[in-house]
Amino acid sequence: MFLTIAFLITAISARATEGMWIPSLISMFYSDMKTNGLKLKAEDIYATNKSSLKDAIVQFDGGCTAEIVSAEGLLLTNHHCGYDAIQKLSSLEKDYLKNGFWAKNRSEELQCPGLYVTFVKEIREVTKEVLAGVKPEMTAAERNALIKKNIAEIEKKSAVTGNIKAKIKPFNNNNQYFMLVTEDFNDIRLVGTPPNAIGKFGGDTDNWVWPRHTGDFSVFRIYANKENKSSEYSAENKAFKPDHFLPISVKPRKEGDFTMVYGFPGRTDQHYCSEKIRFYQDIERPARIAMRTATMDQMKPAMNDNDLVRIKYSAKQASIANAWKKWIGQIGGLKALNAVAKKQQWETEYATKTNSDPQWKARYGNVINDMNTLTKSASKYEFGRAMFTEYFYYGPEFINFCFGFNGLLNNYEKLEKEQKLSKEIDNLKESADAFFKDYDAGLDFKIMKVTTPLYIKYCDPKMLPAGFSENWEKNGENIFKNSLMLNPEKLKNTLSNLTPEAIELLKKDPALVYANELYNGYASSYAQGASEFASEENRLLQLYVEGILTMFPKKKNWADANSTLRIAYGKIEGSAPHDGMSYKHFTTIDGIMQKYDPANPDFELTQRFIDLYNKKDYGTYTQDGKLWVCFTASNHTTGGNSGSPVIDAKGNLLGINFDRSWESTMSDFVFDPSRCRNIVVDARYVLWVIEKYGEAGHLLKEMKLVR
Ligand code: ARG
Ligand code: GLU
Repeated sequence: MFLTIAFLITAISARATEGMWIPSLISMFYSDMKTNGLKLKAEDIYATNKSSLKDAIVQFDGGCTAEIVSAEGLLLTNHHCGYDAIQKLSSLEKDYLKNGFWAKNRSEELQCPGLYVTFVKEIREVTKEVLAGVKPEMTAAERNALIKKNIAEIEKKSAVTGNIKAKIKPFNNNNQYFMLVTEDFNDIRLVGTPPNAIGKFGGDTDNWVWPRHTGDFSVFRIYANKENKSSEYSAENKAFKPDHFLPISVKPRKEGDFTMVYGFPGRTDQHYCSEKIRFYQDIERPARIAMRTATMDQMKPAMNDNDLVRIKYSAKQASIANAWKKWIGQIGGLKALNAVAKKQQWETEYATKTNSDPQWKARYGNVINDMNTLTKSASKYEFGRAMFTEYFYYGPEFINFCFGFNGLLNNYEKLEKEQKLSKEIDNLKESADAFFKDYDAGLDFKIMKVTTPLYIKYCDPKMLPAGFSENWEKNGENIFKNSLMLNPEKLKNTLSNLTPEAIELLKKDPALVYANELYNGYASSYAQGASEFASEENRLLQLYVEGILTMFPKKKNWADANSTLRIAYGKIEGSAPHDGMSYKHFTTIDGIMQKYDPANPDFELTQRFIDLYNKKDYGTYTQDGKLWVCFTASNHTTGGNSGSPVIDAKGNLLGINFDRSWESTMSDFVFDPSRCRNIVVDARYVLWVIEKYGEAGHLLKEMKLVR
């Protein structure tokens, strides 16, 4: 009896699969997917001559993923992916973040200016064409120049029309190239969103953590012109008719069921050397974490105290907190897995292999050593860039805002001569409006006071402008008291009546001077080193991965994520990453009530939700009497997979991917089948919220539910 159970557990966990596979190469991994339970044909998943699953999947706003679930272009993605769009449509009077929003009919669906989705029409390998003429003895510069030229020629030859684009991207660290033919749709409208108390339930406290109870979804619709083609927003546009949409499974699920995630993972770095992993684990991540902790320690209380500040800062705060917490998880995971030692072990194996062939020895014999030596001697440049990024882009916000005015200030006469001045002024007015709408100067000053000392502490003094350490505080006081740049009315007036004198005045504005000196400090001391480090590292990674592909042809090799369409497959399964405890593979609505805490904004509920819970009216969405909220599966995912459909063996939607467990976040560098789990909001909970909470049952009529 004991033996069988132990056997079953290992059999399940052994099936978790590393890798994010390129759909057009499906023949390479199709049989393994079948072994794992897939019931579809390969051409049902990816095809260019007929409709397939891929036609129901889009990149959402250039970052996340979304899927089509009706013949009328209805889209599901995560609440946190639609967050920006929802926030832009929100105000104190129409607080869709707090109250949710449900269009009762098509005419109430809300236009989202700027929001777009991208379809992938074809993925075609063009490695041979791109590498034509490339010789092993070429220098990196020669190789890159030739590749660039080849790519430009091929792209030009394949030029397509309208909103369709053909772009070539490198894969496998510049060892493989694919052309992606894509099409953008620009008229996307908000159809529905649950309130934060559902869509962000658990907030930053639960983010990256299992067990999870977040209804992290929102609903949009793609609109197209009369010909069903991509078009800018127009009142005449109609709901888009897709080539394929995903039916939704409301059947019971069980541990071990096949799952596949089809979406747009952003970036992984499986090939970093052991020293680079050590650098992230011990140096870079800890410093970034400290910078963000300081910022958020100021934001949180200000947001809790004031509703207006809360609305202004919610999206910004969520984005800063997200990477911050992931990094903390990554460090933990890398240490728990002994990732540095594991990498070293593999590096020894690689180096030993090169000894078995003189040609391999000549070409790949030094690469491991070179990568580790480079990291030790030059990763300080990457560190400097990281600190600059944290301060300049994620620290006090006035810095980056002011920096954006340089285009106007430095080219005033030229712009005037070329009659581009009024356009530039309009753009800046618009960006100032957007900036001040979500800005609180008092809070920004507090953020400046806590992040600046950390910037000084972490930076090589060479990066700092002269006198920075002594004067920043005095400068800060002056900026927040007197800067014209931070006075919305005065700035607008100045821009409306722009004179050469006003330009000179703006150039001397203390906030602008601060931003420029800061930038120049970094640019003149570290920027070049950082870019040289990156290109040398890329050169070595190309060679190193070429070595893997050449010397270990049987190794299951997958190309790192690069924001292109990929497939990951695995199973519904729980995990046991900590001694003495194990995680179930699903959570239920009862857990929401257990976490409910009216005193903690992360765990608030609306009265409406509580009433519905007490009625226990779960329709046909339960399993063994319970309404599942989330489940975990063993698919290899990363940022960008948010909103991705989690699909069953027959091509039906099981849920929407939205996170990874904390114990998994190191999978961007090292995957571990026993602990890596992606987190999914169950489609049945999504349907329940739409129907019972949102009273938007009319949307369900468009969908195809599989019972
Ligand atoms: N961790 C998820 C991702 O990386 C969800 C982030 C949004 N949720 C939040 N509580 N901030 O995007
Ligand atoms: N929430 C992430 C996203 O926005 C997905 C989580 C992950 O990194 O796996 O894409």
